[in-house]
Order: sequence, then structure tokens, then C-alpha cells
Amino acid sequence: MTDILELDVMPSAEPVEEALVAETTSEEVVSRIHALKEELRDRVVILGHHYQRDDIVQFADRTGDSFELARYASELHDREFIIFCGVHFMAETADILSAKHQKVILPDLKAGCSMSDMARAEQVFDAWEEMAEHVDTSKVCPVTYMNSSAAIKAFCGEHGGTVSTSSNNRSIFEWAFAQGFEKIFFFPDQHLGRNTAYYQLGIPLEEIRLYDQTKPFGGLTPEELQKAKILLWRGHCSVHQHFQPSHPGIMRALYPGIQVMVHPECMFEVVKQADKVGSTSFIIKTVDQAPSGSKWAIGTEHHMVNRLKKQHPEQFITTLAPYACECATMFRISPESLLDVLEHLKLGIIKNRIEVSDSDKKWAKVALDRMLEITRKAA
Ligand code: 13P
Repeated sequence: MTDILELDVMPSAEPVEEALVAETTSEEVVSRIHALKEELRDRVVILGHHYQRDDIVQFADRTGDSFELARYASELHDREFIIFCGVHFMAETADILSAKHQKVILPDLKAGCSMSDMARAEQVFDAWEEMAEHVDTSKVCPVTYMNSSAAIKAFCGEHGGTVSTSSNNRSIFEWAFAQGFEKIFFFPDQHLGRNTAYYQLGIPLEEIRLYDQTKPFGGLTPEELQKAKILLWRGHCSVHQHFQPSHPGIMRALYPGIQVMVHPECMFEVVKQADKVGSTSFIIKTVDQAPSGSKWAIGTEHHMVNRLKKQHPEQFITTLAPYACECATMFRISPESLLDVLEHLKLGIIKNRIEVSDSDKKWAKVALDRMLEITRKAA
């Protein structure tokens, strides 16, 4: 189990209730963004992920989890510019799925994703080739989590695989086996892959193997590679990694009657103890529909948890960890950077455009279109 439980550091302090960094956007910046949005309203749509801070969410025309934002990008073809308030892989996906005449802008180009960086395309190509020495790769379905580069999405598309998100991973895994694939090679989030395979598909842990890309053959013997139904790339989310197996018990002891709800990027032992598990939109919907007086300890990004807390004073909502777990790269999108790209657009300058190469776009679109179709059919 050491593969699964990677660290356990647990101070038993009181939970953090407020954002660590105060949102201090000046009124001038806010009113300039509103004015520019109005001026450019026929040309610009602003999409925002749920992890964005409140002072960005207020400007988003649509908010969503990563699946919903990808779907919006594939449908909202009437505006020339999509300003994506999220992280790099989400903006790449929007570029792949949007229409030819549209351009995608990421307000801060440093808004990346550390999990996505844990799988480089060359590493994936090498692992695939190496694996072919022991396994018939025509029977392996490569599936990549949305949190990955366009090049890896393209690799999956070209090899009969697809893309998944936290809201549809189960349907995607089921689809892969229904196609006759014998194995799934899943990049880069080991936790989402393991949680889906074990808790939702009932695949025994002996058939779910961690593929450690830093070791030859992933650190697995030929027999282990052959026997595995699910191979998991060794990657994780640095934010969800903070939620520890000791946290649910501590929260339940501190707040009797509290329910634990976590994102499936949390580690196996945390998910095992959760009352509810789901994507960011699932978490929001569950709280929105819960009766007054409900109590929640939520294991996901801090800004979203704090927003839910403010929106639902009739419920008790706290973060599952006793400290703020925030996504530093999502936080890079600031009102100032949003204003900056809008001001450039007004001057006719497209700043911070995200453009996927035509070669990656071709197969990445195949993979993403497959995902949209599988999810639509499964709904
Ligand atoms: P969702 O698809 O649930 O919004 O998750 C996105 C993400 O990157 C979580 O870390």
C-alpha cells in the first residue's frame, strides 16, 4: 500500500475558514473590466473554472468543471475570443474544441498544472514502446485525464484511446473495456485512476498497478505488466495530496454529524472514508441541494470551498484539511491579468494566445470528441 499512501502529516489544528490571500482588487480595475467586457461583448466570452477566486468568477460568462468547460468551448462558437480563466491544459482543450475562427487566451501564461507536468509526452511514448516488449499494445487503451498536455491527448487519440475528467472517468473506463481492450494505461493521475477502477468498477487492487515512469518497465515485472487491467502513471495533484487519511476521522470527532465530501483526485484511503465523491460541479450541486443545517467537510481547492461557505450560511461548511489547500497556479489568473488581456484586445492585440500545433490538434480532437460522445451516450 505504500504506492497509495504517499505522506501523512497531520497537525490537529482548527480548520482554516478564510482565504489566505485577501482579494483586494481595486474598484478601478473592477470597473475597467466591466466596461471592457461590455464594449467587447459580441466578440469575447469568458470561461472560468470553479477553482478561480471570487474576484475572477464575478466576470465569468460561464463557470464549470473541466468537462463542462470543454463542452462549452465545443459549443460556444459565436464569439471570436475565448478568455479562459483556468489553467494551461484547459485553455489548450478549448483551442482544440473551438471553431477555426476562434482564438483562446489565457490571461497568465504561467497558469500551469503540476500534475499535468508529471507526464511529458516523450516519457509516455517511451513507456508505450518499452511496454510493447511484454504486452500486445493493440489491446491497451491509453486514456489521459484532462489534466495533461495536448500532445498526450493526441497520443491517446491516435492509439484508439480518449480523454477523461473527474465527472466521466467511470464511463470512459467502461467504454474502453466494452471496445474489447484488455487494459487501460491511464495518465497522469494515479489517484483518480485507482479510485475509479477499485471503488466504481470493482477491479481488485492486484490488477491495478502503479507504473513508475522513472523505472524501466514502470518498475513492473513482465508478469505484472501482463496481469494488470489498469496501469496508473505515477502522478498526483499537489492540492488534493494534502488531504490525509486521518482528516475524515478528525473532522467527524470535531463536528458530530458532519459529512465528508471529496474530489476523486484525493488519495485512496481518503476516498474510502468519504460519504460522497465527485467533480467540482458535483460538489457544488450536492451542497446547493442539501437541506439547511447540513454539515460538510470538503476535500478540494480552498477558494471553491470558501465560496460555498459564503453562499450557504444556512449550512456548516469547512475544508477537510486543517489548513488551506489552494491551487497556486489557478490563483495566477488575477483581475489585473484579465484586464491586461482585455485592454490589449481593445487595441487589436491578441496577448497570451494558446495555440495547439496542427499536428497535435488533429488527434487530440479525435480523443476529445470521443470523450464528448461517450459522455453524451452515458448520460
Ligand atoms: P474538475 O473537473 O472536477 O473541475 O477538476 C479539475 C481539476 O483539475 C481538479 O484538480
